[in-house]
Amino acid sequence: MSESRKKVVVFRKLPDDLLERIRAQHDVTVADPRRPDELPRFRAALHDAQGLIGSSFKLTADDLASAPALEVVSSISVGIDNYDLAYLKQRGIVLCHTPGVLTETTADTVFALVIATSRRLVELSALVREGQWTRNIGEELFGWDVHGKTLGVLGFGRIGQAVARRAALGFGMPVLFHDPFDVPVPSELAGRASRAPFEEVLARADIVALTLPLAEETRGLMDADAFSRMKQGAIFVNGSRGAIVQEAALLDALDSGHLRAAGLDVFAVEPLPQDSRLRTHPKVTPLPHIGSATHETRRAMAELATDNLLKTLAGQPPVAAFDL
Ligand code: DGY
Repeated sequence: MSESRKKVVVFRKLPDDLLERIRAQHDVTVADPRRPDELPRFRAALHDAQGLIGSSFKLTADDLASAPALEVVSSISVGIDNYDLAYLKQRGIVLCHTPGVLTETTADTVFALVIATSRRLVELSALVREGQWTRNIGEELFGWDVHGKTLGVLGFGRIGQAVARRAALGFGMPVLFHDPFDVPVPSELAGRASRAPFEEVLARADIVALTLPLAEETRGLMDADAFSRMKQGAIFVNGSRGAIVQEAALLDALDSGHLRAAGLDVFAVEPLPQDSRLRTHPKVTPLPHIGSATHETRRAMAELATDNLLKTLAGQPPVAAFDL
């Protein structure tokens, strides 16, 4: 066996050809820790693993501590909130992720929720499916215009900017955005998007789209106070991470009629528990975390994550390392 072969644990399904690419260079264990029957094999494989590739599993400091030879974690996601960043940094383990390749697809999902909530698409489609479309609909079932409304974007990174482009250039929507960093307005949005303080975005937007990453500073950011600052009858859309939202406060704002609707692709606990009121609330359009879930984009993410893994294990700079 070649000296350069290393041990890799693949903890989320990869396309066969990418798995073969990894197998050609390294010894691979495939084990999905989300499956109780595979968890023991996953944990056992960590002991001599040098590379991990996967997503959608919270890797704790305990998991990482049981992998003393670990060199790289290659996440098939842009979000890195499943990893203990301080611990990875302290150990000098490289964390890679997949920014860029999912930007447009995730922005499509967020904008789909903007339209679905405003025009009540899911609710009205269900009415047709259930055989309730027996006469022309009355105004109690009308939706609200999207074009021309003010969109608030919280988090003006790649995805936030892509949502803003759709809104401003496609739907004639003035955009107000807030970002903790001093992000400049992209030239194509000049005169159409402007920076504003967090509270002002909430107070002036008809529709607020959340595209911030989850970090200690953003956890629970959308609380009762934040929702109360939103316009009466405004719509809230979340395409980033559920834990940025205090879900009980969101439910209160919907129940009281202060908010008109919410479109949610992400939740504090996923999959969404059966007893969550967000699952069945008439004003909520829930999606099962499909932000990047298209054939093309998931393929591109898996390819990028594989490149990141193989380059790092070969001692080369990965395409996209997260700056720990
Ligand atoms: C991401 O890439 O972070 C998406 O949310 C999928 O997990």
